[in-house]
Amino acid sequence: MELIDGKATAAQIKAEIAEEVQQIVAGGGKRPHLAAILVGHDGGSETYVKNKVLACEACGFKSTLLRFEDSITEEELLAEVDKLNRDADVDGFIVQLPLPKHISEQKVIEAIDYRKDVDGFHPINVGRMAIGLPCYISATPKGILELLKRYKIETSGKKCVVLGRSNIVGKPMAQLMMQKQYGDATVTVCHSHSRDLKKECREADILIAAIGQPDFVTADMVKDGATVIDVGTTRVPDATRKTGFRLNGDVKFDEVAPKCAYITPVPGGVGPMTICMLMKNTLAAGKKEIYS
Ligand code: GUN
Repeated sequence: MELIDGKATAAQIKAEIAEEVQQIVAGGGKRPHLAAILVGHDGGSETYVKNKVLACEACGFKSTLLRFEDSITEEELLAEVDKLNRDADVDGFIVQLPLPKHISEQKVIEAIDYRKDVDGFHPINVGRMAIGLPCYISATPKGILELLKRYKIETSGKKCVVLGRSNIVGKPMAQLMMQKQYGDATVTVCHSHSRDLKKECREADILIAAIGQPDFVTADMVKDGATVIDVGTTRVPDATRKTGFRLNGDVKFDEVAPKCAYITPVPGGVGPMTICMLMKNTLAAGKKEIYS
């Protein structure tokens, strides 16, 4: 079994990005600028956004964090999105999800100029991704593809099972794994209403778990020699930790790992890659690589 080290891979990619940014700036080019909108005080979102700002620093990007209270109205938030759309200095921006219940996430996502949508959540980017056109690809599936590539894990013609059908991970992951230019695999998507879910999983050469249920994937669901990618990051109470919680993956790591050819740990697997791919998308935005 080989552990897929997302933390080390992400550090390496960030160093590559920083090197490129240095050259761009040395050549008189513009330093990429990422803005982030954070609404409220959700613990997970606070951590994610803090790490995104730190990653910007590591890559040599300019970053702007805009914070608003839960009480912000949908109209006010849409006006903030519009300001960032019009700000020529901002190359790309994200609105951290989830948003408070009184605000439509879909409305906010659709208000973002797709040319600055470095999260790849806007329907134009999602649609272009689905038909294989140049676009911003959402960071988690993009990070998983990058890990598979850097670890030289063969995907072409393999059977891939994606557990979960969210817009952010499951659906784009399945699309990308299916496409000839990316995974080129035979893809099955399983979800809460799938029949024979265990049987489907046992047939997977590559199993990607993104359902947000701690320890859902057990050893009896995994084929010998499979590659297992764990996207889960549920906070579970843990009195032994300073923070009072730990991050728990969707995979019961201790019993699944010995059966695998490759497996991602939690933390230190997919998580660091997600932020790193947001940085890649921001660099592409700064270079006007996808949309001019
Ligand atoms: N919430 C959880 N993951 C993400 C992400 O990738 N982007 C944004 N904007 N919000 C999230």
